[in-house]
Amino acid sequence: MIPGNRMLMVILLCQVLLGESNHASLIPEEGKKKVSGLQGRHPGQGHELLRDFEATLLHMFGLQRRPRPSRSAVVPQYLLDLYRLQSGEAEEAGLHDADFEYPERSASRANTVRGFHHEEHMEQLPSDGASIRGGGGTPLRFLFNLSSIPEEELLSAAELRLYRRQIDDAGSGMEGLHRINVYEVLKPPRAGQLITRLLDTRLVRHNATRWESFDVSPAVLRWTRDNLPNHGLAVEVLHLNQTPRHQGRHVRVSRSLRHSPEEDWDQLRPLLVTFGHDGKGHPLTRRAKRSPKQRGRGKRNRNCRRHALYVDFNDVNWNDWIVAPPGYQAYYCHGECPFPLADHLNSTNHAIVQTLVNSVNTNIPKACCVPTELSAISMLYLDEHDKVVLKNYQEMVVEGCGCR
Ligand SMILES: *[C@@H]1O[C@H](CO)[C@@H](O)[C@H](O)[C@H]1NC(C)=O
Ligand SMILES: *[C@@H]1O[C@H](CO)[C@@H](O)[C@H](O)[C@H]1NC(C)=O
Ligand SMILES: *[C@@H]1O[C@H](CO)[C@@H](O)[C@H](O)[C@H]1NC(C)=O
Repeated sequence: MIPGNRMLMVILLCQVLLGESNHASLIPEEGKKKVSGLQGRHPGQGHELLRDFEATLLHMFGLQRRPRPSRSAVVPQYLLDLYRLQSGEAEEAGLHDADFEYPERSASRANTVRGFHHEEHMEQLPSDGASIRGGGGTPLRFLFNLSSIPEEELLSAAELRLYRRQIDDAGSGMEGLHRINVYEVLKPPRAGQLITRLLDTRLVRHNATRWESFDVSPAVLRWTRDNLPNHGLAVEVLHLNQTPRHQGRHVRVSRSLRHSPEEDWDQLRPLLVTFGHDGKGHPLTRRAKRSPKQRGRGKRNRNCRRHALYVDFNDVNWNDWIVAPPGYQAYYCHGECPFPLADHLNSTNHAIVQTLVNSVNTNIPKACCVPTELSAISMLYLDEHDKVVLKNYQEMVVEGCGCR
C-alpha cells in the first residue's frame, strides 16, 4: 500500500525547497502564473531534485522505471473514450452515451483498464488452413501477451473487441447475417486442428458499421489468475445466406485482408481489454466534470484554506508517456489555524484542544492546516511495454482543508 499523501508531500516539499512557488516550473504554478527555470535560482540542485521527484512519482504510480514509448505505440480510441468518460471530459469532447457503450459492469469493479493488441507475427492466417472441429469457417488465432499485468492486479473481466464494417446488401433481396464465434484455444495448434472452447458468439446483421464486444473473461482469468498456459483466442466468422464475394471481408481481423487502404489498421485491429483491481483505492466511476470552484474568500483571509496548485507533467517531460491528462489541479492547503478555531476550519476536538493549549503555552504548536478530504484522478498512459493503461489514482486532489 502506498501512502496516499505522498504526492502532496512531494509537492509541498518542492515548494519549500524552491521557495514559495515563485521560481518552480517543476510544478507550482499558482493561479495561471508560470515562471520557468529551475536552474536560475538553484544551479545544480534542480537536476537532482527533478530526478528524485520523478523517482518518487514513478514509485507512487507503481512503475519500475520511466516508460519510453516507441514511435509505433498506439493509443486505441476506446481507451481514450473511456478516459474521457472517467474524467468528465466527455461532455467537452462532445462524446455522448449514444456513441459509446460504457462497460458499466466491468468498470465498476476495476481501478485499472489495460488494452492489448495481438502479437501479429504469431497470427495464424487462413492459408494455414486451420479449422475448428465441427466448425465451418476458417478461424484466425490471436495471441495476446498479457505478461505486463502485475501480479497484484486481480482481473475481474476481459473483453475482445472486433470492428466490423457495413456491407451494402441493397439489391441482393436477402438480409445479410453472419455469426461471429470467439473461442479460447486450449492446446498448441497441431496439423491444422485447433482444440477450442467457445467463449462467446453473436449473430449480427450486415447493415451496420460498429465495434462488437465479446466476453473473454473465463479464458483471461485462467491465464492470469490460474496461471494456465495462454494459447490465444480464435475468431471465426460464418457467413449465412451470403454470396462468396463477401467472405472474410468485413470483420476487421487481419491486416492482410482486402480493405480500402485508407482504413487505419492500428485503430481498427482487434483489441483485448482487461479490467482489474490492484487493491488500492476506489474503482473507476463515471464522473461529471468538476467545476473549478473558487473557494477562497478573498486575499486578505489568511486562515487555513485550499489554494490552487497546478501539476504540469510537461515539466518533467512526461507528456510522451502520459497520454492524458497533460497535468492536473492538485491544490494544497495553507493558512493559519487561529485561536479560537472556527467551525468552518474543519477542525477536530483534538485540534481545538491543542489550539487552546497553544494559546496559554506556546511550546505546544498550533494545529496544522492539512488536507481533510482528497479525491482521485484517472490517468491514461503507456507503460514500459507500450501497452495502454487507464488507471484511477487515489488521493491526488485536495477537496477540503482543515486544522488538525
Ligand atoms: C511478452 O512480453 C514480455 C515483455 O512484456 C516479454 O519479455 C516476453 O518475451 C513476451 N512473451 C512473448 C511470448 O512474446
Ligand atoms: C438493419 O436492419 C434491421 C432489420 O432489417 C433494422 O431493424 C435495423 O434498423 C437496420 N439497422 C441499420 C443501422 O440500418
Ligand atoms: C472543510 O471541508 C469541506 C469538505 O471537505 C470543504 O468543502 C471545505 O472547503 C473545507 N473548509 C476549508 C476551510 O477548507
